[in-house]
Amino acid sequence: MKKKIMIIIVIVLLLCLLGFSLFLFFYNNLERKLKNIGYTNEEVAIILNKVPHESYNEVLNLGYNKSLINILSAKNYLDSNFDLYLNYYMKNKDEDINNIITIMNYNADLINLPASDLLANLVQEKYYINDKVTRYLDYGNSQNVDAKKVIAIVNSNADLGFYNSIYESNLNDNNLILVNKFYALKNDYVPSDLITLSGQYNRAFNNKMRKEAADSFMNMVDAAKLDNIILYNVSAYRDYAYQENLYNIYIKKDGKDEADKYSARPGHSEHQTGLSLDINNISDDFENSDEAVWLQNNAYKYGFILRFPKGKEDITGYKYEPWHYRYVGIEAAKVIYDDDITLEEYYAYYIENTSN
Ligand code: DAL
Ligand code: ZN
Repeated sequence: MKKKIMIIIVIVLLLCLLGFSLFLFFYNNLERKLKNIGYTNEEVAIILNKVPHESYNEVLNLGYNKSLINILSAKNYLDSNFDLYLNYYMKNKDEDINNIITIMNYNADLINLPASDLLANLVQEKYYINDKVTRYLDYGNSQNVDAKKVIAIVNSNADLGFYNSIYESNLNDNNLILVNKFYALKNDYVPSDLITLSGQYNRAFNNKMRKEAADSFMNMVDAAKLDNIILYNVSAYRDYAYQENLYNIYIKKDGKDEADKYSARPGHSEHQTGLSLDINNISDDFENSDEAVWLQNNAYKYGFILRFPKGKEDITGYKYEPWHYRYVGIEAAKVIYDDDITLEEYYAYYIENTSN
């Protein structure tokens, strides 16, 4: 019995020894082959350390390749993506290795697109949406703007041209409903929960807002008062017909192109949602007043956003309106404020883009 056990142990040990010898043989063999191809000792060590075993043949077939070493030494290199990097590199031999790594780490589906600086910059942006990559590249390659701007423009649809394609606003989006130069409300849409702003909160004929927005506005006015800031409504809910009349007056006064820069066409005004209002003073002078500055710094805490900010005219399609605020709820308002984005960009990423 004892003898049998001894024999088994010896056989197992012999098998282990054989396995180990075979391993050493192939390993040394690979090391030798890599050196023969022209890799230095240091490069061989990098290859043996980083390339997954199943890809050794691919590396040998490649011959000496300095880019391979650059790939393996890149900051964001991941072992599991080695084959992707290599395939992508073969299609993009002249592109920056870091672009190849960055793009493949983000999404292997991008393998058929050139590993350009623009694409690498795009995928690193927070509001990048993969489905829109072709539009990003088209817009980015035709305009001299950075990746962040490309994403803002495309996510807001501004690359398609204002009023060129019109969709119906989704009433189920509630406080986040999008009404702009692409999304419109029907002419008979009237919010069901309008309430009246009165007393210190109002100085206007258009004095209604949806309940949650109105309550939040009144809270904001009360809080501002403690800071000696007096706020009040000068135009809140406006129905379709009122906006139509207003827009037509502006066209007569300034012409259609000019009117479109500051007035929404009927159905396209946020004032019809009952979630927007103009505060205190519809005048460019309002911008630097204490009241406007207070609103810029505090409105988001009450769920309101500055809807048409300065410098975002090409995204919203409207001139800067320091008086026009839109209720979106506290959660969305904080993201929009913190990230300095528009409702259009928020909507594209957090509402429309279901993969987030
Ligand atoms: N002034 C804003 C854009 C409106 O007419 O709704
Ligand atoms: Zn307004």
